[in-house]
Amino acid sequence: MAVIASKCPDIRVVVADIDPDRIAAWQSGEPPIYEPGLREVVRSAIHRNLFFTTDVAGSVEDADLIFVSVNTPTKTFGEGAGKASDLQYWEATARTILANAKTHKIVVEKSTLPVRTAEAMARILTSKSSAVCFDVLSNPEFLAEGSAIRDLECPDRVLIGGEASERGRRATEVLAGIYARWVPEDRILKTNVWSSELSKLAANAMLAQRISSINALSELCEATEADVAEVACAIGMDRRIGREFLQASVGFGGSCFKKDILNLVYLCEHFGLQAIADYWLQVVRINEHQQERFARNIVSTMFNTVVGKRIAIFGFAFKANTGDTRESPANYVCRRLVEERARVVVTDPQALDNARRDLADLGDAVTFEPDPMRAVEGAHAFAVLTEWDLYRGMDYQAIHDRMEHPAFCFDGRNLLNHAALFDLGFNVYPIGKVPLTHL
Ligand code: UGA
Repeated sequence: MAVIASKCPDIRVVVADIDPDRIAAWQSGEPPIYEPGLREVVRSAIHRNLFFTTDVAGSVEDADLIFVSVNTPTKTFGEGAGKASDLQYWEATARTILANAKTHKIVVEKSTLPVRTAEAMARILTSKSSAVCFDVLSNPEFLAEGSAIRDLECPDRVLIGGEASERGRRATEVLAGIYARWVPEDRILKTNVWSSELSKLAANAMLAQRISSINALSELCEATEADVAEVACAIGMDRRIGREFLQASVGFGGSCFKKDILNLVYLCEHFGLQAIADYWLQVVRINEHQQERFARNIVSTMFNTVVGKRIAIFGFAFKANTGDTRESPANYVCRRLVEERARVVVTDPQALDNARRDLADLGDAVTFEPDPMRAVEGAHAFAVLTEWDLYRGMDYQAIHDRMEHPAFCFDGRNLLNHAALFDLGFNVYPIGKVPLTHL
């Protein structure tokens, strides 16, 4: 929304949320999340045409266009638990809109939702016989964390799903007209509502599938002494495959991939498409396998025991340039190491507060240390779980000196210069490559 405000100074953008603390943080111009460039975009428009409020009812009444961006976590109860989206916040929002709208509104689904949700929203909005009419559009968001501002300012495409009726087309044009202020026309795709909803789930599923594919190959590389980076480069040079999203890793994390695939699986099952559901579920299973494999490798490499050993975890965010730790592989790996009675110390430049919260139930078994040089003090091993740039440029000679020997490096992101670390005396275990070891 901040990007719309900054690109369209003549449009008044009001962000409404029921959480007063969150709104207060935004209002102060200090966003409550870490995202490169976000602060600057917010500050360029705040109090000019960008406003934050807890008055949800009032902002519904005033708006011509309403973007619904409430969260839709995976259901934890009842039918579809563990797979389907929990739509309670979304439905509550539809009802708030219905209760407070006095004039025509275009309602835009921004949250990622199961296919055919817009139809359900339209049904709720027309459930009361009133003079007010609504148009519901689907406009899924494709930004990635860490590069959100760039993705919004220069998107590969903007997708708008609308009804084929005359009114639906008019509503689509209104929204397309806003994006057209900064997005080239040929990147604004107009589809039917269901194609738009499904495309969002499908795009995330295909991206995650690429990561699971390269991660599956990484295990085969380790068994055959092939190098996964060389394989990724060789296959990525085929233009039909492309180079992006072929970085082998400890596994994908984030709030979206797993949730959206499980949602897709649930949809397939709902329509009786079990073979298709099984296919997509395997993408998640391989991701879990990769995380488990990484944790198990740490234990087996360190002479089959990590009891009482200090292990430094470099990075807890699910990817670099964000403080977000949702579904982060680091969470799983830390828990497995604590299960094996290691002493885990977590360091991360942005995600330490979230890490503390996520691992609170593990008590003293995990400590948190902002300075990586202190985290490695007396450690038997360090493991890279997030590809923060800062870990590339550290003084690994000094790190080796501070650690117990033999010193182990487990690089879950293939981020570091493995040959150089080996020369310093480390035993190095990358993903999908032959380990470099003095043992
Ligand atoms: C993802 C999609 O990339 C966005 O297009 C989408 O809009 C967003 O989900 C969403 O649905 O909101 P995001 O989860 O922010 O974005 O981050 P990604 O860059 O996709 O990374 C996801 C995970 O995959 C991270 O843990 C990352 O480290 C991992 N990854 C990514 C790999 O392990 N290897 C790769 O080659 C690429």
